[in-house]
Amino acid sequence: VGIFIGNKQYWNKGFGQEALGLLTDYGFQSLNLNNIMLTVFSFNKRAIKCYEKAGFKQFGVRKESKIVNETKYDEIYMQILRKDKIDGKINQ
Ligand SMILES: CC(C)(COP(=O)(O)OP(=O)(O)OC[C@H]1O[C@@H](n2cnc3c(N)ncnc32)[C@H](O)[C@@H]1OP(=O)(O)O)[C@@H](O)C(=O)NCCC(=O)NCCS
Repeated sequence: VGIFIGNKQYWNKGFGQEALGLLTDYGFQSLNLNNIMLTVFSFNKRAIKCYEKAGFKQFGVRKESKIVNETKYDEIYMQILRKDKIDGKINQ
């Protein structure tokens, strides 16, 4: 999964969580997927929180793979499984 809300005015209003909820429902219920994954850089706290609230869980870390102005950041791998979502609700 990749997601980008272009206009910052619309960040932090829950749209990311809502969009991911709809997308994972579509993936599991219509496409019959069993696992949906994404990657996110460790500095992107907003995105990580959004993904966690949409039911994604971390399953791996690629250490220090992103370098910005000589600072090294990890790439975080996250996934959600079909069994994590039952009847459209996140199963913690
Ligand atoms: C990442 C993105 C899709 C998230 O969508 P969004 O609609 O802004 O996110 P949501 O409002 O659904 O959820 C964000 C959560 O992070 C929280 N948050 C915001 N900044 C935070 C920070 N610095 N640290 C921790 N949490 C933070 C918000 O409070 C919110 O949590 P809440 O629902 O408990 O209040 C959107 O911000 C975006 O398009 N960003 C630019 C592109 C990008 O970074 N894409 C992801 C690439 S991996």
